Amino acid sequence: MTTEKPGIAENIVLHPTQVAEVDRERVVAQKPFTIWFTGLSGSGKSTLAFSIEKLLIDSGKPAFVLDGDNVRHGLCKDLGFSAEDRSENIRRIAEVARLMNEAGVTVMVACISPTRDCREKARAIIGDERFLEVYLNTPLAACERLDPKGLYRKARAGLIPDFTGISAPYEVPESPALILDASEKSVADCVEQIVSKAKSYGR
Ligand code: ADX
Repeated sequence: MTTEKPGIAENIVLHPTQVAEVDRERVVAQKPFTIWFTGLSGSGKSTLAFSIEKLLIDSGKPAFVLDGDNVRHGLCKDLGFSAEDRSENIRRIAEVARLMNEAGVTVMVACISPTRDCREKARAIIGDERFLEVYLNTPLAACERLDPKGLYRKARAGLIPDFTGISAPYEVPESPALILDASEKSVADCVEQIVSKAKSYGR
C-alpha cells in the first residue's frame, strides 16, 4: 500500500537545508547509519538492537531503536500482518530511519521484514551506503523453544493467523552484510561482530 496521492506530488517542492552533511556529522561525532535486523520473531533482533543502542549511547553517539513491536503501538497501530500491511509497516519504518539518519542518529531497526522485496525497498529509501543488513538465522525450533511472548504456542494452536514461520512465509536474505545465529552465540559475541562489520563499512 502506498499513501501517494495522484496529482499531489507535482505541487510539493523540496525545501533545501542550509546544513551540510559533514557539518552535522561533526556535531554528532559519527556518520549515522541504519543496522537493519531481519529474522523470525524471537530470533534475537530486539535484544541485539537494544544492546547496540546502549553501547553507542554510552560512548556518546546518538542512537535509537525502531522495534517492530514498539512501532506497532504508535506510528503503525493501524496495521496488521497481511502482506500489504507488513510492507506498509516496513516502508514507514524505513522512512523514519532515513529521517533519523539525516538528523544524525544511528538507527537499529528490529522488525521481521519477511520479504526480499520489502527489505530492498527499505534499502532504497535509506540509501545503500547507510544500510547494513543483519540476518538473524536462529532456527525456528530455537525461537519456538524459548517463545518468551507465548506467540508460537498460540500460532500453533491456530489462534494467530499469518504467523511468520508457521503460517506466513519468511524469505531468507540473499546477501546480508552479516548472518548470526543467536542460539549459538552470546549477545556479546554478536554485538562484537556487528560493531566490527560496521567499522569495516566506515561507520
Ligand atoms: S513485520 O513482518 O511487519 O516486519 P514486525 O516486526 O513489525 O513484523 O512485528 C512482529 C512482531 O509482532 C513479532 O515479534 C510478534 O511479537 C508480533 N506478532 C503478532 N502477530 C504476528 C504475526 N502474525 N506474525 C509475526 N509476528 C506477529
